[in-house]
Amino acid sequence: MPRINSPAELEALREKIVSKRDPNKTCITLCSGSACHASGSREVAAKIDEEIEKQGLAAKVDFRKTGCHGFCERGPIIVIRPDEICYFQIKPEDVPEIISETIVGKKVIDRLVYNDPVTKEKIVRESEIPFYKNQGRIVFGSNVSVDPKNIDDYMAIGGYSALAKALSTMTPDSVLQEVKKANLRGRGGGGFPAGVKWEGSRNAKDPVKYVIVNADEGDPGAYMDRSLLEGNPHAVLEGLTIGAFAVGAHEGYIYVRQEYPLAVENVNMAIKTAEELGLQGKNILGSGFDFVVKVHRGAGAFVCGESTALMTAIEGRAGEPRPKYIRSNIVGLWGKPSVLNNVETWANVPLIINNGADWFTKYGTETSKGTKIFSLVGKITNTGLVEVPMGTPLKEIIYDIGGGIPNGKKFKAVQTGGPSGGCLPENLLDLPVGFDELTKAGSMMGSGGMIVMDEDTCMVDVARYFMEFLTDESCGKCVPCREGMRQMLKLLTNITKGKGREGDIETLEQLSETAIEAALCALGKSSPNPFLSTLKYFRDEYEAHVKEKRCPALSCKELIAFYIDPAKCNACTTCARKCPSEAIIGGKNLIHIVDQEKCTKCGTCFEVCPPKFRAVTKISGVPVPPPVPEESRKIVREGKQK
Ligand SMILES: Cc1cc2nc3c(=O)[nH]c(=O)nc-3n(C[C@H](O)[C@H](O)[C@H](O)COP(=O)(O)O)c2cc1C
Repeated sequence: MPRINSPAELEALREKIVSKRDPNKTCITLCSGSACHASGSREVAAKIDEEIEKQGLAAKVDFRKTGCHGFCERGPIIVIRPDEICYFQIKPEDVPEIISETIVGKKVIDRLVYNDPVTKEKIVRESEIPFYKNQGRIVFGSNVSVDPKNIDDYMAIGGYSALAKALSTMTPDSVLQEVKKANLRGRGGGGFPAGVKWEGSRNAKDPVKYVIVNADEGDPGAYMDRSLLEGNPHAVLEGLTIGAFAVGAHEGYIYVRQEYPLAVENVNMAIKTAEELGLQGKNILGSGFDFVVKVHRGAGAFVCGESTALMTAIEGRAGEPRPKYIRSNIVGLWGKPSVLNNVETWANVPLIINNGADWFTKYGTETSKGTKIFSLVGKITNTGLVEVPMGTPLKEIIYDIGGGIPNGKKFKAVQTGGPSGGCLPENLLDLPVGFDELTKAGSMMGSGGMIVMDEDTCMVDVARYFMEFLTDESCGKCVPCREGMRQMLKLLTNITKGKGREGDIETLEQLSETAIEAALCALGKSSPNPFLSTLKYFRDEYEAHVKEKRCPALSCKELIAFYIDPAKCNACTTCARKCPSEAIIGGKNLIHIVDQEKCTKCGTCFEVCPPKFRAVTKISGVPVPPPVPEESRKIVREGKQK
């Protein structure tokens, strides 16, 4: 590829790329993000290639393997443009029909379109599907039209024009002021204003400075940074390069976890292509500005997402945090001023430079500007990645986009902010998502994990689960985190096992206070959040566990029992046949009984008991009724002999 030596040459190249593309030409876009790969998009892609060839359509049809489209629940996804016909859960065997019926015959295949689970309506166009229609995708939206391995696609949508603008028409200071004016707050955790952080580094005396992308993303259930980096790596790279120009850095790092192989592959390819084109390296676009980027693969420890631990890991040492008496934007990587921002934060930068801070601040609330990408997971109908303007109420995300709670269950809580975030109850569903709003309610934005829980979720067990995760992930450097969390986990585990004692809740509160005050880094300091928020909103559940040895959600194994209601049992034998531990005493025409000694509480009997009988129930906090006496176990069926 020939090197681009100026903004004018970049524009000329873009015009050439765009002029070769007919917007009315049929283009099949296939989501090829990690989630769709896992559900078979590679095989679908091979079949599309084969079928286009076989049906002689190579000149008439474009085929693009794009980044994640977001609706991961329904992958692999195909969108056929320009008509925007959207097909879900495509299998290789569907492909010949798609090509002959839809591409050639212009007919929609009914069985592959979106079937709204609520209205039962069939929806053909992507933009009309509630999951997409109710979002505001300014950052993530480009994923659907970009093949991350082909820089032409990024160019075609205006890629690198923000960098050209910054280098040719702005000064480092005016770039910085624009980002400050936009009030872009960090998308990876604390919501610190990016412009202020950059300014600190820029003003630091040391001439050697670094810029770094945090793509560690260790939160359970979160994958928005992965999808952005693997789906649109040039956007992150462009943002990083603009940031480097503003700060005065000539070297950057992308810290990405090893478990993200596709992100690593795509970002490495993007860097190589950008270097070949002169968008990285020496004298970028003829501006005299030099900048190179290296990829550092992280070993997958959650604590390495913390800024100082991450920098220590890049230096080749064990990833442990250090005290932040001096912030890392002043003394960071190898003791030099270093700006660390999250993937999504960097991806916002080209948009701000191209469209201006006034455009950006039109989205969001007074203190949280722009949009936020969330990974919406858990007990939710539409699992996937969603991007909404800051200030969108939780209810809209969960119901209008997420489609609500499946299987007729009731909403119980939503956990935001990753493992150190908090759980918010139903009466806070009107809360607008924003950094300060979530923190005030006892949770936090974090990097954008959003886990929805239904009525069957035990909130004490949720706190225990996150505490277990954090205890495992603690680096062990400071005592309040290493020892404090271990004690908290022990107490929470005991409570969920029915071994909780009076005073345990108060001890947990004291340990929380100590961790908040004395832990070295935010992992320890925020570790009590899941406990404190569940205690704040669901105290009655803690008390039921401790005082009555009862789990109100009927979830904690040690506190529940399965019981077959003799009045409802029809001796159909299903539960007895399916029970993996042979714990059901059954027999033809005999009321079935759960042998409580043998029962492992796997719940199979509960799940398989036919809905028309619903004879198996879960009980907690009360003794299991005695088994039906042998002489009364026979079921008398109408019109039949006893
Ligand atoms: C234990 C721990 C893990 C973290 N993991 C991440 C992460 O995976 N990605 C991220 O961007 N920030 C993470 N952070 C926050 C970072 O320390 C830092 O604040 C952030 O990368 C700064 O970027 P931002 O201002 O753009 O959000 C983590 C913080 C802690 C305490």
